[in-house]
Amino acid sequence: MNIVASEKLQKMSSSIFQEVADQKQKALKNGIDVIDLSVGSPDFAPPAFVVEALAEAAMDRSKYGYTLKGIPEFDEAVSYFYKQRYGVELNPASEVMQLMGSQDGLAHLAMAVINPGDYVLVPDPGYPIYEASVTIAGGNIYPMPLLEENRFLPQLDEIPLVVLEKTKLMIISYPGNPVTALADRSFFEEVVRFAKKHEILVLHDFAYSELIFDNNPQISFMSVPGAKEVGIEFNSLSKTFNMAGCRIGYAVGNEQALAILASLKSHIDYGVFYPIQKAAITALTSDFSFLQSQVREYEKRRDVLISGLSKGGWQTAKSPATMFVWVKIPSGWTSRRFAFELIDSKGVAVIPGDAFGKLGEGYVRIALVQPSERLSEAAERIQEFLRETQV
Ligand SMILES: Cc1ncc(COP(=O)(O)O)c(C=O)c1O
Repeated sequence: MNIVASEKLQKMSSSIFQEVADQKQKALKNGIDVIDLSVGSPDFAPPAFVVEALAEAAMDRSKYGYTLKGIPEFDEAVSYFYKQRYGVELNPASEVMQLMGSQDGLAHLAMAVINPGDYVLVPDPGYPIYEASVTIAGGNIYPMPLLEENRFLPQLDEIPLVVLEKTKLMIISYPGNPVTALADRSFFEEVVRFAKKHEILVLHDFAYSELIFDNNPQISFMSVPGAKEVGIEFNSLSKTFNMAGCRIGYAVGNEQALAILASLKSHIDYGVFYPIQKAAITALTSDFSFLQSQVREYEKRRDVLISGLSKGGWQTAKSPATMFVWVKIPSGWTSRRFAFELIDSKGVAVIPGDAFGKLGEGYVRIALVQPSERLSEAAERIQEFLRETQV
């Protein structure tokens, strides 16, 4: 019997992350010391008090059942966190919804609101699940180019009216992955006006809300007047508290949209393990000094990498946020050839930019997930690579 993937799955591009992982394994087998800067999984640990809360709750043998949805205390903790960190008021009973990581919501929202033939506006380059979720849902993708000359903001007035008439959902992310740019308040205000005018639901992915550098403001889309009428925001404990493996995140904002997503999820999963919810509550209601020291660590790593690269003459823009550096590669290379040859010859693993969309070609994404000394060494190896392979 020949088992064939569905047409929808076949339409989805292969996982470049897997290809990079395979290439890395090959290099390791060849005895190369690999500096892995590919996947954005934090190498920092969660705060000790969060792990203690998790361990304590895990000892309670009565808490091993399905949780179905977030316990009310979790929704209240998110509401507290949003008020403290972003000045946003949220009704915990109706404007907060727990997710199994924000990926859960990102993967399922399109399925919950899109009908065949509907369009979704998706950033290019963008985090891969944005496009994949629309493909799974049977919708049409309209890529919004994020260009350097436009400060990586989509030009909303350039989207054709015929597309807007069929558009149900728009996905944005500031700061984003792989494009680390920030949006200002006036852009978010424009998005609210645009969404109201064309009746488009807005999804703002704010997964890197606590990795914003150089004292730039942390602007939640939900802090803009009218945003709750048109949109929801996804956030997560994965990067903020280094709890990526715990799979806990949340969506906030428009009640109706959250109820629709909750309705779909009620068919799909049975909730997050109770001790993980307790650990998340502890993290969200802590004093936030952990967040301040963590952002400084990432800032330092970013500076080490960028200054290492620039010493060899490769000038790259400083990321204003996130755990990534989005680097334009020298001309004469494709992103894939650059990334794969870099692993093979120097043992530095990065992600080719085309993994994030057509406009990612010509870039690579470097994740700041190794200590500064390793990043400095990676920069030296990259310089060597560039000298040896000058095209
Ligand atoms: C932009 C962005 N959004 C969402 C996610 C998903 O994170 P999680 O599901 O762990 O919350 C990631 C993970 O790397 C990401 O980079």
